[in-house]
Amino acid sequence: MKKLTATCAVSLTALAVSAGASQALTLYCSAQEDWCQLMARSFEEATGIDVDMTRKSSGETFAQVKAEESNPKGDVWWGGTGDPHLQAAEEGLTEEYVSPMRDQLHPWAIAQAESAGNRTIGIYSGALGYGYNTELLASNGLPEPACWKDLLKPEYKGHVQMANPNSSGTAYTTLATMVQLFGEDEGFEFMKGLHKNINQYTKSGSAPIRAAGLGETTIGIVFMHDAVAQTVAGFPVKAVAPCEGTGYEIGSMSIISGARNMDEAKQFYDWALSADAQNLALQVNAFQVPSNKGAETSEATPDLSTLTLIDYDFKKYGSSDERKRLLQKWDEDVSTLPQ
Ligand code: F6P
Repeated sequence: MKKLTATCAVSLTALAVSAGASQALTLYCSAQEDWCQLMARSFEEATGIDVDMTRKSSGETFAQVKAEESNPKGDVWWGGTGDPHLQAAEEGLTEEYVSPMRDQLHPWAIAQAESAGNRTIGIYSGALGYGYNTELLASNGLPEPACWKDLLKPEYKGHVQMANPNSSGTAYTTLATMVQLFGEDEGFEFMKGLHKNINQYTKSGSAPIRAAGLGETTIGIVFMHDAVAQTVAGFPVKAVAPCEGTGYEIGSMSIISGARNMDEAKQFYDWALSADAQNLALQVNAFQVPSNKGAETSEATPDLSTLTLIDYDFKKYGSSDERKRLLQKWDEDVSTLPQ
């Protein structure tokens, strides 16, 4: 019986191949859920290739790709902060690929690829900041925060939410930003002080500002474009570019080493770098800066050239040793402290 089933399976596969079986792509997505969905469905429409998409945060996807290293299940990892993509590149978890679309991209997107032996590439960028619910702030009689260090004030106790830097690229960017902005000792003192005011560490990076929009927390530490998306959606959320300056992300894309559908993976990769594919962001209020020079940038997108940005050292903070070290230090020295 077993033999018969196996024979049937083999001949069915042969039949499917000879009949031009539909091609498939397994997409790991770490941008916002509705953008992930739209990218998957639009690629299906453009190519006829079926896409099986899963959305997980950047750190979680890195952990999954690492866990599947000896038996890769994903083909492309699209979106999410650049640091874990760089770590994956360094650990050989992602594939070297030079897309013919590359000359359409901004230099910062290409620099990301070049620093990682062409195992990843920039697809968008955006600055870190925070946002707050203006109505909740007022009803609680709280002052308007404008700086990172304002968030340490005792009156904000229980009012601030951020994600866990192990799962979330946004929160890892926050940790690495504080270390670069204030120096390692003072940066960790900041994270410890902040911990006292945190009401919850979420899994996903943008969850805190969606919670702020719904009135479940007053302040959410997120990328500014995620705060702006809440404002545009009609929630009473104000985005803040902290007065001390801030870090930023180069959202990235990588092909997974040993991808089962390598041709389809490269097809998706090239398509995702096109201006048309990047313009899909506008349909779902994704306000990152696109990496294709010909793609449109929404008027609501925070203008990075007007912000005080640190010279974020992607090479260092996206390296395997440094990311592991900082996360371990945060786990041991910050997350275990009483609140
Ligand atoms: O919501 C979009 C976004 O902020 C992207 O700009 C970013 O790359 C990604 O989410 C990070 O998500 P997470 O913090 O959950 O890894």
